[in-house]
Amino acid sequence: MNLTRLLTLFLFTSSAYSCTGSKKSNTDATNHIATVDSISFKSTINDQEANLYTLKNNNGFTVYLTNFGARIVGIIAPDKEGKLIDVALGFKTAAEYNNPKEPYFGAIVGPVANRIANGKFEIADNIYNLPINNGPNTLHGGKNGLHFVVWNTEVFKDSIRFSYLHPDLQDGFPGNKQIDVTYAINNQNELTVTYRAITDKETYLNLSNHTYFNMNGEGSGTILDHQLQIFADATTPVDSTLIPTGEITNVAGTPFDFTSLKAIGKDIDIENQQLTYGKGYDHNYVLNETKGKEMNHAAKIIGDKTGITMDIYTTEPGLQFYSGNFMAENVILKNGVKDSFRTGLCLEPQNFPDAPNQPTFPNSKLKPDQIYNSKTIYSFSIN
Ligand code: BGC
Repeated sequence: MNLTRLLTLFLFTSSAYSCTGSKKSNTDATNHIATVDSISFKSTINDQEANLYTLKNNNGFTVYLTNFGARIVGIIAPDKEGKLIDVALGFKTAAEYNNPKEPYFGAIVGPVANRIANGKFEIADNIYNLPINNGPNTLHGGKNGLHFVVWNTEVFKDSIRFSYLHPDLQDGFPGNKQIDVTYAINNQNELTVTYRAITDKETYLNLSNHTYFNMNGEGSGTILDHQLQIFADATTPVDSTLIPTGEITNVAGTPFDFTSLKAIGKDIDIENQQLTYGKGYDHNYVLNETKGKEMNHAAKIIGDKTGITMDIYTTEPGLQFYSGNFMAENVILKNGVKDSFRTGLCLEPQNFPDAPNQPTFPNSKLKPDQIYNSKTIYSFSIN
């Protein structure tokens, strides 16, 4: 490693949460900027060092990341009054992420995000058995998925690249899979996440980021009054174990219609079998193709109190909208507040759940001569 690289590494890893210029606002409910510093964040997990990394642009827009699970730890964005607000839920130390009760905060999930029915899929007459960790199914790569490994880190000026070699048959998934995830920011307050992977054996791959967002700020209450638009005319309905039935159903006239801006809480309590199965929204939306563009405009979400707006663009065909229905005060977030019911929501760009077992869904197979490429942009502005 040359001197410049070493110095950059030092500067990035030693920068602390400093948007307020102080560390006192720990439980200040009006401010919602959590205080975390890289020194106390650092933990040893699986005999490896998990650190805090910082990307910050000219406007103060800041993204905090860790190499444990290649996670987003915090996203600091300006609100309509110019105040900086942390809109991504997370923890103050890397060690707190190593918790099976709440394993996915901010994480990259995979090798196959979301559910695989009965923990099985077949490739070329071989049946692969995966760990069952969610009812009868496999969720987010099993117990030791990408969220629970320490990734290698490379630090660049405006980006951080995490990489991990997911070995053949780890948790039953075939192929030595070399996976790279790069987080980059620019001065337009955009965070771009680029995924790239190769394998030496035919496998299934579906990577996503599992950040819990609250556009009014971490710890500011529920997300039910947020305004949400999802650019999708259809969803993939599920059975009682949240595995897609294979149907593609139009959202028109149902509580799932977010084709124009709507408060998340407006229809969430309507009597509807799909909402009962998910205990709220926990469904994959079939994104409308944004014609002529490389990426689909997937969603727009606006914090009703802050006006902070996030637009998501993705190359993926689906978006899992999860309204935080299983959040159950299991953990304490950065600003000292618990993860109460529906105080965060996830918008996970990805291929459709259970695609390995659903021949009518977009194919998620990765072959040795192919490169897995996927990109999502989270673009922040003020409404
Ligand atoms: C799933 C939820 C699950 C959550 C865990 C989401 O992607 O769809 O069912 O509870 O992840 O954080």
